[in-house]
Formats: sequence, C-alpha cells, structure tokens
Amino acid sequence: MQIHSAIPDLRAALNNRRGIVFVPTMGNLHAGHIALMAQARARGDTVVASIFVNRLQFGLGEDFDKYPRTFAEDCEKLSAAGVDLLFAPAENDLYPETQQYYVDPPEIQSQLEGAFRPGHFRGVATVVLKLFNIVRPEVALFGKKDYQQLMVLRNMTRQLALPIEIVGGETVRADDGLALSSRNGYLTPAERAEAPRLHRVLRGISDAVRNGRRDFAKLESEAVAELGRNGWKTDYVAVRQQVDLRVPQPGNTVLVVLAASRLGKPRLLDNIEIQAVQHER
Ligand code: PAF
Repeated sequence: MQIHSAIPDLRAALNNRRGIVFVPTMGNLHAGHIALMAQARARGDTVVASIFVNRLQFGLGEDFDKYPRTFAEDCEKLSAAGVDLLFAPAENDLYPETQQYYVDPPEIQSQLEGAFRPGHFRGVATVVLKLFNIVRPEVALFGKKDYQQLMVLRNMTRQLALPIEIVGGETVRADDGLALSSRNGYLTPAERAEAPRLHRVLRGISDAVRNGRRDFAKLESEAVAELGRNGWKTDYVAVRQQVDLRVPQPGNTVLVVLAASRLGKPRLLDNIEIQAVQHER
C-alpha cells in the first residue's frame, strides 16, 4: 500500500488510474471501516482510503484533541484489506491556509445531529468535497451508522453534479447489537454492558412501525423514557423519511429511526432503516 500525505504526490500516484473507489475515514479503524474497504475492493480497480481527523467538523469542547489516533495499526488493517493507496494528509497539507470557502448544507444540517453539533455538517461537507477534488473517485463509500452524514453527502453530490456514485455501507454490530464506533472505546465496562439497549429500543420502534403504528411521537417519547430509566441522557430518538430525514409525510413508508444518547460521557449514535408496510385504512 502506498501512503501519501502531500496532495501533489497523491495526484501524481493517481494519474491515469481508472475506477477509483474511495473510503474517507478519520482513522481508529474498526470492523465497520474494514467492511467498507472490502466493499470498495469488490467494486473498483483502485481502492483509496484516507485518514484525516478534520478539525472543521468538531465543535468547541468536542473531542478533536482526544479523538483516538492509531495510525500504525490503521495502516496494517488497510493494507490487509487490500487498499492500494492511503491519503493521510497533515493538517497543513489539507488546510495550508485558513479555510474560508465552505459547503453550506441546507436546513437539515441544524436538525437531529446538527441541533447538537452546530456547524458539524458544514465541516464534513467541506472536507469531503475537498477530498473528492483531490482523489477524484468514481465511487465513494460511507457507513450508514452516520446516517445523516450519508444523506447530506449524497444530496450534496447530486445537487453539485459531482460525477461520483455515493454508496452506503451497512452498520457493523457487535454480537450483542451495539453498533461499532471509534467512540465505543470511551465506554467503561459497566456502560459497555448497558450500551446495546440503544439498538434494542430502536428495534422495538422499527418493529412497531413495520406492524403499522404511525404514532411516531409516542413511540419516540416511550423510547426516551426507557433509556432515561436506565441512565441514558437522550438527545433525540426520531422516526424520519430516509430520503431527506424530514418528519414522515402521510403514506411515506421508507423510513429510518435515528437516535443519539449519552451513556455517562460517551455519546452513542444508532439508526435502523424501516421499510414499513402500507396498511389499509
Ligand atoms: O465519517 C467520518 O469519519 C468523517 O465524518 C469523514 C466522512 C471522513 C469526514 O471527515
């Protein structure tokens, strides 16, 4: 696996390469990332991964400084997964001057995750557009665990007519259902034992909606209450339309339930896509 940190070096290495499939990451790779690499390997001639902890998408007081950085282990995993090139820029490679031009996603950037992380999606969209311009992939893969991010990037790519196919990778879970995340490392053993409840609660909502329930607000507040009884502090549990993450329109059955909740210090995210059956009234 080639590793490049300077933009001109990566561009030179990619010159004349076709069928580039790209998986951007912030490192600290787990089985969810490796599944994306395998999906990329199966789709393309040249698999490019990136590792860059993007300051622009972290708010004040968030974990930018202590975000886990495990570069040597990450390189071993990427190489074993058949990645051809790794782009691992330093901050000065990607932001040699203060970034003043941004991609400003629409109003959905202030809802759900955006309501709790102001500016987050602006930072994500900006760095991803920049990475796309450097790597120039035909296909880019993102995990569905960050569902809102995937939706923002898919819609950005379509609206800006970027010639890139955006593919979502299924969330990889531990045996007990907990979605894998770099932030799971922050959980104490007791919190780790409690953590799968988030997925169970979402599964309960997903089953109920599949069985015809449309009283989303009630389902959401019951879920928040159950989490609360077990020590969680919930930012949101929300049933939304998959396409734009807005509140479901009557008759829309292509839904997703998303949640973010804090267990002790760590804040965990999860979601489940729901294909509800249209029930006769
Ligand atoms: O999902 C991530 O790891 C990051 O948000 C991304 C897409 C690599 C942009 O920094």
